[in-house]
Amino acid sequence: MNVLTFDSNEKLNETGANIIVGLVQTNPRAVLGLATGGTPVGVYEQVVNDFKQGLVSFKQATSFNLDEYVGLDAGHPESYRSYMKHHLFDHIDLPAERAYIPNGNASNLEEECARYDERIAAAGQIDLQLLGLGHNGHIGFNEPAHALIRGTHVVDLAQETLQANARFFNNIDEVPKQALTMGVGTILKAKMILLIVRGADKAEIVHRALTGPITTDVPASLLQTHPHLVVLLDREAGRLMA
Ligand code: F6R
Repeated sequence: MNVLTFDSNEKLNETGANIIVGLVQTNPRAVLGLATGGTPVGVYEQVVNDFKQGLVSFKQATSFNLDEYVGLDAGHPESYRSYMKHHLFDHIDLPAERAYIPNGNASNLEEECARYDERIAAAGQIDLQLLGLGHNGHIGFNEPAHALIRGTHVVDLAQETLQANARFFNNIDEVPKQALTMGVGTILKAKMILLIVRGADKAEIVHRALTGPITTDVPASLLQTHPHLVVLLDREAGRLMA
């Protein structure tokens, strides 16, 4: 595990973007695993800058997002499809037909999950999986549980997750209660994992996830078993790390 802590958000964003862009420069057919939420916004901004400067093309790349809410229209401003278009897809040349996000409006969600896993398998291995971290240690929407699920599945969002994500909606009642999420097995199968965490409110969970016992109560603790894990932290999130 390689943990890097940054004093400046700009440097953190640049470093995150360099890892993604560098991968696609050396492997134009790279398969990217992408995340949403507040954490990667600045990284995507920097990726878009690099693309606009002609440093990289995503024409041959493929992407799979980690998750999507159940029951929000794809066009809803807070759907993860809208988020990805707004922050990344509308500004780069990644072909829309290879920018996969699970469909949280599918009539049969179990079938949609199975289809998503088949698509990931058909694309080969995810080369780089980008992750944020939930306050409760979730990755994707794999919430703390007695057992974690390997593949894409429907999940009931934890109360803490609903609270954290209420900031994107008018109130907590508008936050969808369920989501589709890639499973921990798929996440851990990625060749490389890039975990990014910001903010003092995540310092404790960062410490538990990266140095505490490996337990399904803190799904991110399973990342300790991954051979190619890079962690980018801002100073606040890294406060408790030695
Ligand atoms: C997003 C995702 C989540 C977030 C996590 C942190 O696709 O899968 O695990 O990464 O909830 O969210 P933010 O970045 O908003 O603090």
